[in-house]
Amino acid sequence: MSLDAYIAGLPKAELHLHIEGSLEPELMFELARRNKVSIPFDSVEAVRAAYDFSNLQDFLDIYYAGAEVLRTEQDFHDLALAYFRRAAADNVRHAEIFFDPQTHTDRGLPFGVAADGLLSGMKAAETELGVTSKLILCFLRHLDEAAAIDTLNAAEPWLDRIAGVGLDSSEVGHPPSKFRHVFERAGHMGLKRVAHAGEEGPPAYVWEALDVLQIDRMDHGNRSMEDPRLIERLADERMTLTVCPLSNLKLCVVRDLKDHPVPEMLRRGIHVTLNSDDPAYFGGYVNDNYRRLADAVGLSREQVTLMARNSFEGSFLDAADKAARIAEVEAWAARSA
Ligand code: HPA
Ligand code: ZN
Repeated sequence: MSLDAYIAGLPKAELHLHIEGSLEPELMFELARRNKVSIPFDSVEAVRAAYDFSNLQDFLDIYYAGAEVLRTEQDFHDLALAYFRRAAADNVRHAEIFFDPQTHTDRGLPFGVAADGLLSGMKAAETELGVTSKLILCFLRHLDEAAAIDTLNAAEPWLDRIAGVGLDSSEVGHPPSKFRHVFERAGHMGLKRVAHAGEEGPPAYVWEALDVLQIDRMDHGNRSMEDPRLIERLADERMTLTVCPLSNLKLCVVRDLKDHPVPEMLRRGIHVTLNSDDPAYFGGYVNDNYRRLADAVGLSREQVTLMARNSFEGSFLDAADKAARIAEVEAWAARSA
């Protein structure tokens, strides 16, 4: 069996996926029409042509503009279900998805429009596709901590259905320590904590995410590789990194996939997972990330299997579910040997 076919059949979890970043241009047009919202493009091709970014902020400007078409609970339900159908085709068995409530509440939508729509899409995905999922609320780091606290307060009635909090948007100039209090509060409420760190920001931001925000999992983490003490710490703590190769390529975090740090991360004992981040914008879903990275750096079947195992191990599933999913990975590896 080719490595591509092996990757396709490998059961996996996706742990770094912004649901707003799974909005494909076709659905963007459909929602624009349905909601009578105008968008500054005349065709799906024109939208795709605009996805040429030189850094994170270039992308974020267009990503927040795209989210404008999302207006109703049904829109969020449709968005989520479209993602899960695509993910199921990649044999994603479990996904922990981010949403950015402030992107929607700041446009006047009540918190529940996004949250209830996504939760109903997640439930439909479990029934229709057997894909399980958890929801993570991300704070926008370019806004202040008071706004993040307001968001956590607004989320209160939904917290039994929200697994954790995250931190995303423009990294440089917005260090994790800016969100010290809201993450502390989230921890006291029993929520898991994750944060984007070291995508464009320096290793110092990764240290802060670990020490100040007390994260359970790290999103990206690429620039950790500049700091040998940090590498050791991540490996010793078995901190899961949700790495996103095609995102890194599109946002110029790496110049070429051949230069991607994943092989070195694996060599140094870091707990790496592969994810798609914003697949509608970055040109590939999770299996494309596995395949294109494997092609560029020459991953072995064992390395690919390890990262799929890591994806369940690093998830927020309970121990019994993790063990059951990991057994499915091992069964696929044994069958394909
Ligand atoms: N980084 C920061 N913020 C984001 C990203 C990302 O890769 N995707 C969506 N919001
Ligand atoms: Zn991300």
